[in-house]
Amino acid sequence: MTPKNNLRFGVIGAGRIGKIHAENLATHIPGVELAAIADVDLKAAEDLAARLHIPKAVDNYQAILSDPTIAAVAICSSTDTHARIVSEAAQAGKHIFCEKPIALDLKTIDAALDAVDKAGVKLQIGFNRRFDPNFRKVHTMIAEGRIGTPQIVRITSRDPAPPPISYVNVSGGMFLDMTIHDFDMARYLSGSEVEEVYTAAGVMVDPNIGEAGDVDTAVITLRFANGAIGTIDNSRKAIYGYDQRVEVFGSEGMLQAHNNTPDNHVYSNADGVHSPKPLYFFLERYAVSFIAELRAFVQSIQENSSPLVTGIDGRIPVVMGMAAKKSYLENRPVKLSEITAPVLQPD
Ligand SMILES: NC(=O)c1ccc[n+]([C@@H]2O[C@H](COP(=O)([O-])OP(=O)(O)OC[C@H]3O[C@@H](n4cnc5c(N)ncnc54)[C@H](O)[C@@H]3O)[C@@H](O)[C@H]2O)c1
Repeated sequence: MTPKNNLRFGVIGAGRIGKIHAENLATHIPGVELAAIADVDLKAAEDLAARLHIPKAVDNYQAILSDPTIAAVAICSSTDTHARIVSEAAQAGKHIFCEKPIALDLKTIDAALDAVDKAGVKLQIGFNRRFDPNFRKVHTMIAEGRIGTPQIVRITSRDPAPPPISYVNVSGGMFLDMTIHDFDMARYLSGSEVEEVYTAAGVMVDPNIGEAGDVDTAVITLRFANGAIGTIDNSRKAIYGYDQRVEVFGSEGMLQAHNNTPDNHVYSNADGVHSPKPLYFFLERYAVSFIAELRAFVQSIQENSSPLVTGIDGRIPVVMGMAAKKSYLENRPVKLSEITAPVLQPD
């Protein structure tokens, strides 16, 4: 028996990330009951529901939005569906956890955020890395002033293997799909907005990615409003595994967070000194953060407090991604103020 006052959730999208969030909601988040799973691929929804003993699996998310016993949804479907589902869920009065990015254009994002504002529901965006214990510690110590004034922010984010071209084609490109997490991290660590970006990028991993109109390798320099400067470096393929490190240098010291490994043994022999490769990919590396972000979202609903990653926090990294792409294409520094959205017309 589940307690009557549990917060009932629906998960929309039963793919890679939907499976993680559904499993976490079903097993790791106190005060929550996962009531239904929707996927246009009904079998995917049914298989996941059966595995987690969830009573309802549907092929149309509307069935979740029209269920008055469901208070909140986790939107884990493909990127091009997020904004529409956010707007409809808000109109249905559901609290919303939505995966990144909200959408690939600002007009669509602003319409979705407007619907959330009007409905007065909670919206949290899935920037899970803020909930990673390593990066959270660095963030907290910077905010406490432990390194004085931050001057240089360095973010390294390299995937172990490139995604399939089918994924690349609908992802919005590397800057909006992958670097978007690093743009969020830059804001989160520095406590400052970024004003200008300059991108050098290329295709060094997979020529098919280039043919799809995307890049797979980039270095992006950042100028922050507080005077700091920074770099993000990305690759779609690091042969030694998922490389996720940050370093922030300031007037009074430096903070670093290194990769997580399956264990920390070090083996020395005649060939050298060996230690394990980083945890393979995001599902392993960020497992703890996926649980923590949903716990925080549930807490914000229970306590009626502001979510820790807001709709605006979801919007700004999209602007940064657009500026990074423009900088790459035009080979010049681009100010974020150059990226503007058409003004929304009032209803
Ligand atoms: N925060 C993270 O670290 C992280 C990691 C991976 C993916 N994501 C984001 O999550 C989203 C999904 O990514 P994924 O890797 O799980 O993709 P995926 O392709 O594995 O899964 C997407 C699922 O959504 C379903 N779907 C599509 N349209 C739908 C609709 N209208 N209603 C219901 N279901 C629908 C598809 O059938 C599929 O099962 C993307 O926006 C991606 O950017 C975030």
